[in-house]
Amino acid sequence: MDVTILIFGATGDLAKKKLIPALYGLIKTKKLENYIIVGAAINDISVHEVLDHAKSSIADLDENLWKSLSQRFFYKPIDFNDKNYFDTLKNYVEQLEKQFNLVGNRLIYCATPSDFFCVLTEHVAQSGLAKRTTSSGPWCRIIYEKPFGHDLQSAQEINACIARYFDEDQIYRIDHFLTKELVINLALLRFTNIVFEPLWNNQFIDNIQIIIDEKILVDDRGKYYDRYGAVRDIVQNHQLELLALIAMEAPKKLEGNYIREERARVLQHVRFVDGIFGQYQGYLTTHGVQPQSTTETWAELICTIDNERWNGVPFYLRTGKGMRSKCTIIHVVFKQAECRLTTCPVANNYLTIRIDPDAGFTLYLNAKKPGELADIMPVAMDFCHSCLYAQTTPRAYEVLLEEVLRGSKSIAVRFDEIEDSWRMVDEIYARKLPVFSYVVGSEGPQERMEFAKKHGIRVMT
Ligand code: BG6
Repeated sequence: MDVTILIFGATGDLAKKKLIPALYGLIKTKKLENYIIVGAAINDISVHEVLDHAKSSIADLDENLWKSLSQRFFYKPIDFNDKNYFDTLKNYVEQLEKQFNLVGNRLIYCATPSDFFCVLTEHVAQSGLAKRTTSSGPWCRIIYEKPFGHDLQSAQEINACIARYFDEDQIYRIDHFLTKELVINLALLRFTNIVFEPLWNNQFIDNIQIIIDEKILVDDRGKYYDRYGAVRDIVQNHQLELLALIAMEAPKKLEGNYIREERARVLQHVRFVDGIFGQYQGYLTTHGVQPQSTTETWAELICTIDNERWNGVPFYLRTGKGMRSKCTIIHVVFKQAECRLTTCPVANNYLTIRIDPDAGFTLYLNAKKPGELADIMPVAMDFCHSCLYAQTTPRAYEVLLEEVLRGSKSIAVRFDEIEDSWRMVDEIYARKLPVFSYVVGSEGPQERMEFAKKHGIRVMT
């Protein structure tokens, strides 16, 4: 693979914690061999400082490999709003490409807040850093990190702007959750096992719970996070994409475009019912956060899907920072079986899909207690993916970059999916939900109990 990778926002948290470590991973596995990486951001710092920041995010670092990456990594301070910087950057990139014998395939990563997407796109296009791909010349692909916009209107404006310069097949609006191993596995699990599909509807499913809990706090992302909050940062993209995968109709084939088609179809019918927000204690002292901020760092939301398959089934979405532990998980809770025992009721069966930090799934069934005549106990049938494959499974951003380098659009999000999820998110914010405070390391505000009681939510463990 012969490529020039340009990262705009190269000094940010995403580049430091995810992108540079993912590129290191691709070099380690020899998926990236002939390349240069050129970072650009507002900060006037040296390339060594940029790399030093990222180095600490790499586990089991091999110094020789790191050295070879450092020899092909470059950095230029840049003002995204000033086109002159892009003209200079273009000349710099062309010189490097000559020096390293590269043909000029370019992958451009916009690892910046979406406020910059339009101006960045305009300037990379006008300077010639990125061009529309032609059938004969080198290719150019451009990645836009989530969240794509801040609300429906801004997302539509950005989309109209970037469409003026690039063709849809060059544009990658990405969501790294779609490249997590167990998320890719979701559609396979549902549609290659005949035991699930007949039960996957409102006749047999009681509720679905999609939980993205994080132990980490906002830390040095205060400026970004305070404008976005948990719903824009996580629900609009990661959580609704998980919901779409869990709830979609069977795609014609288990392939990228067919899956995207079905995900988009289901998102058109998601409706917000009720919710509650929380903010962890100490958030207001985070650097970059407004002193009186009411931004939510925790949210629990109830949605339904208005279609024949899901009418009447609540989908509970919960996410928060400062939780007791990191846990990305989905519970599919089946209805109770009719009880024909003397001791009733019997426990619900449920399927738990664990996405992070450990991956796997467990099906909870009822079985006879040893020795007792008609007493039952819950038993777990477990598949632990991480126990078997953790060492060899690539991380989400490695998969993402590899897919874009291959030109596969299966991990990209279509704009209509983004529009529909913003439509719902705008509706959530329009309701002005109450924001309650909670203690770091807890499971959210105390008031969540009242909310759970009101809506009959049963938390699975
Ligand atoms: C990002 C959010 O998209 O996902 C972060 O902006 C969040 O706030 C992160 O911490 C979680 O991703 P992962 O892969 O670490 O679970």
